[in-house]
Amino acid sequence: MTIVEEIRKLQAARKAIILAHNYQPAEIQELADFTGDSLELARKAAGVSEEVVVFCGVHFMAETAAILNPNKTVLLPTPDAGCPMADMITGEQLRDLKAKHPGAKVLCYVNSTAEIKAESDCCVTSSNAVAVARSFTADQKIIFVPDQHLGSWTAEQLGRSFILWPGFCPTHARMTDRQIALAREAHPGAPVLVHPECPKGVRDVADQVLSTGGMCRYVKGRTEPVFLIGTETGIIHRLQKENPEKQFYPILESAVCPNMKKTTLEKVLWSLKENQTVVRVEEPIASRARKSIEAMLAV
Ligand code: 13P
Ligand code: SF4
Repeated sequence: MTIVEEIRKLQAARKAIILAHNYQPAEIQELADFTGDSLELARKAAGVSEEVVVFCGVHFMAETAAILNPNKTVLLPTPDAGCPMADMITGEQLRDLKAKHPGAKVLCYVNSTAEIKAESDCCVTSSNAVAVARSFTADQKIIFVPDQHLGSWTAEQLGRSFILWPGFCPTHARMTDRQIALAREAHPGAPVLVHPECPKGVRDVADQVLSTGGMCRYVKGRTEPVFLIGTETGIIHRLQKENPEKQFYPILESAVCPNMKKTTLEKVLWSLKENQTVVRVEEPIASRARKSIEAMLAV
C-alpha cells in the first residue's frame, strides 16, 4: 500500500477531512480534500460535517478551525509550524495599544493567535480586509494588527489611515521592486500579481495586489500567457494546475515559508494514526475569538 492509500484508509475510518493552504507542498495540496486561501479555509472549516479536521497549514489556521468547531477534533500534523507574524504581537501589547486609543475598533489579520482574536472586534483575511474595514464608518478610529503591510494597503484602498502594528511576514518582506523590474525584463508584458503582505514599494510597482485565492480567480479570467507571482511559491502549483495553458514565474524563487513547508505525507499519516497534535482553544478565549471570526464571516 502506498502512503497516500494508507492515509485514505485511515481518513475514511476516522471520518476526517483534510484541508490545506495554498502555500502547502504540492503533494499535500494533491492529497487535500480542499485547498484554499485563509478565507476559503475559514469558511470551509465553519461548515465541516466530518468528525476530524486535519489541517495542513500553520498553527493559527488550525486554531481558527478549532475555534469554529469546538466539538470536533482538529489535528495539526506539524505542531512546530507557527507563523512568525502571528507571534509579533502579544495579548498584553494589544491591550496596551487599546488603552492608548480608547474607542478605536480593532481589526486583526487572521494570521494572529486566538488571544489576539479575542481582544479584537473583527478578523480579516487578505481577501476581505477592504470590505470588512469599509463596514466601519469613515470617522471610526481603527487599530490594525499585526501586519503593517496588509494594514497600510487596506487603509490606502479606503483613503484612510489606521493605527498600525509593526508586524510583517518574513517571507513577503524579502521581496523588492528591483526583483519585479528584473522579472519584467525577463518576461515583458506579463502581469505582476503580488500579495498585500508585500511592502509598499513592491505593491506600488505591481499590476494587481491580491490574496492567494484572488490570484487564482484573477488568472482564470485573463488571456495573457505568462504571469509573474509575488507571494509564497506554493501557490504556483495550484495556478499551474488550474491553468495548464499559462505559465507562472515567481518574482522571488526563494519566497518559501519554512513553516508551511513542514507538512509531509508521513506527518499526515502519523497525525491520523496517533491523533496528533490536537489543537484546542480554551474558554473564555475561544468564545471571544469566535465572535471576531464570525463577525468577519458575516461581512
Ligand atoms: P491568503 O491565502 O489568505 O492570501 O494568506 C496568505 C498567508 O500568508 C497565509 O499565511
Ligand atoms: Fe506567516 Fe508569512 Fe508563512 Fe503566511 S507565509 S504563514 S504570513 S510567515
